[in-house]
Amino acid sequence: MGVEIQQQQHSVGLSKVAVSKTHGEDSPYFAGWKAYDGNPYDEADNQSGVIQMGLAENQVSFDLLQKYLEQHPEASRAPGFRENALFQDYHGLESFRQAMAKFMEQIRGGRVRFDPDRIVLTAGATAANELLAFILADPGDALLVPTPYYPGFDRDLRWRSGVKIVPIHCDSANNFQVTPEALEAAYERAESMNMTVRGVVITNPSNPLGSTIQGSILEKILDFTVRRNIHLVSDEIYSGSTFSPLEFVSIAEVLRNRAYKKAETERVHIVYGLSKDLGLPGFRVGTIYSYNDNVVTTARRMSSFTLISSQTQHLLACILSNKEFTENYINLNRERLGKRYETIVNGLKKAGIECLKGNAGLFCWMNLRPLLDEPTREGELALWKNILNEVRLNISPGSSCHCSEPGWFRVCFANMSEQTLGVALERIHKFIEQRNNLQ
Ligand SMILES: Cc1ncc(COP(=O)(O)O)c(C=O)c1O
Repeated sequence: MGVEIQQQQHSVGLSKVAVSKTHGEDSPYFAGWKAYDGNPYDEADNQSGVIQMGLAENQVSFDLLQKYLEQHPEASRAPGFRENALFQDYHGLESFRQAMAKFMEQIRGGRVRFDPDRIVLTAGATAANELLAFILADPGDALLVPTPYYPGFDRDLRWRSGVKIVPIHCDSANNFQVTPEALEAAYERAESMNMTVRGVVITNPSNPLGSTIQGSILEKILDFTVRRNIHLVSDEIYSGSTFSPLEFVSIAEVLRNRAYKKAETERVHIVYGLSKDLGLPGFRVGTIYSYNDNVVTTARRMSSFTLISSQTQHLLACILSNKEFTENYINLNRERLGKRYETIVNGLKKAGIECLKGNAGLFCWMNLRPLLDEPTREGELALWKNILNEVRLNISPGSSCHCSEPGWFRVCFANMSEQTLGVALERIHKFIEQRNNLQ
């Protein structure tokens, strides 16, 4: 994160969007990042620094990409500088869209097909989500989002589009699964506030829970959107499950199983990107895959504001079209994430801390409710501050993910080395020990 210039009072006005607080960057989620930036942990140079466990980055398989690029220097070489420098068609490179479609199929276990012509390229999933908010809803309309949700949605879906998020409240009683009752309750709440509901946005499985949404629940969500005649956006930026590839069911698979009925497909849009599966957030590669022709056309037009550079497309087209590499990468990456997951969950268990059972993604959902001085949002934030300042771990409080039950925290485990993860676990153990000694 770069230097922040403090906003000051000026007599020259700015737009409503510019001064709006709906970007959500005042939340503890981003405050924790700033604390990390001010004093980042370093294995060699700053062992007392803050360990960043709030950033959903996947660094566990970086070496595989590095090795591939060393062995395939042609991937980094543009086909012709001139061609690359001048190419700016918003359809993107055909070779890249084809490779992306194949990769999206492969990472879903080859159980579904994607048409490269329906792939709209965007600069990251952030832009893909925002484009969909612009396309599916008008300012003041509502999108329903199950809690806990990715804190960035407050910015991506709301800030510039003027769309409102109405939470679908989920809780620990059923492991935070979405129920038809919770969907209806959110819909009715939005209506009672005079909002027009335009869609449901789910994250599967890259939600803060670190677990996939079961196929039967996806079916119920899809049924709900058909009944209410609204859209369904499935953010599948992290696509896969850690222990068995079969545990991740894409909404694309549900549509296939139900024979691609028009009344269902026309409302479904998938968001994908390479920030998590390939661990390349800096490359800014995202996509919208929509089954709705009008959405594809509009999204493609709008993608002019947020294109991926041709050089990046060329590089990734080379990497993704090497099936041997992608197959090996997907398997090893899954294995390594699984190992990390076991390390953190078992390490926390030894400290007496329970996590929700996870099977996917880059984080675990940790229950610190027994440590709260009071079972409220304030109690949760007090504990979060204590952990940030005293233990020097940046984890994300559940309230920043709009979780309605205080005491849950999202903890990322894939954005650091195994050694740093060990240090983080040691610090947690010491913290718990000290608290137990005080009681
Ligand atoms: C659910 C979800 N969607 C979108 C994003 C943004 O991804 P990108 O880096 O592709 O913009 C993230 C990143 O953390 C995420 O977790």
